[in-house]
Amino acid sequence: MPFTKSEKIGSDPISRRIGVLISGRGSNLQAIIEAITAKELNAELAVVISNRPDVAGLEHAQKAGVENLVLDHQDKAKFATREDYDRELVQQLKARQVCLVCLAGFMRLLGPVFIEAFPNAILNIHPSLLPSFAGINAQYQAWEHGVKVTGVTVHLVTAELDGGPIIFQETVPVLDRDDADALAARILKVEHQLYPQAIAAVLDGGWRVDGRRFVRA
Ligand code: GRF
Repeated sequence: MPFTKSEKIGSDPISRRIGVLISGRGSNLQAIIEAITAKELNAELAVVISNRPDVAGLEHAQKAGVENLVLDHQDKAKFATREDYDRELVQQLKARQVCLVCLAGFMRLLGPVFIEAFPNAILNIHPSLLPSFAGINAQYQAWEHGVKVTGVTVHLVTAELDGGPIIFQETVPVLDRDDADALAARILKVEHQLYPQAIAAVLDGGWRVDGRRFVRA
């Protein structure tokens, strides 16, 4: 039975509460913050959580006055197992009534404990046209492979790495003069446009997941 989110939920502020998970630079987080500030994205950023301390993304949250916390996965005294860590993440997000979780450079695999707690309510952004070049260094993989077009994918998160239903994709041409860094920089600009748009589309409802397909009404 396909999951359906067909009702329009825009009038209910609770259902527009998002949480963003980061591990580093946080430029996509900053793009989300700016889209909310500019009222291009009707969402409430309830919390930012990093699995690493002292990362630049946390400063973006602090500057914007957004609640932020570190859950350090390497803290084995607190988190003996992956499940312990995932349970704590779920608890922190649910305590803030987060309805949609946005992974923004969160460099940690999430297990079933987490994924089942937010069914079809976890998004990820990936710097390639999935299913090509899943995994890390996708921009470099694409450049090295010699494709002429790559891009950006926003997708729902399932147990399969970079494998959930695709919400939006946008292409980015690979130029002959590109090195991997130049290509990655152009891809990143597109990420910053596409992620807030995809979050808005998901929050607005009127979509369903049919097999692998994310379909808007
Ligand atoms: C982005 O390229 C994103 O697509 C990937 O990780 C990177 C995170 O960058 N999942 P930032 O932390 O948002 O700047």
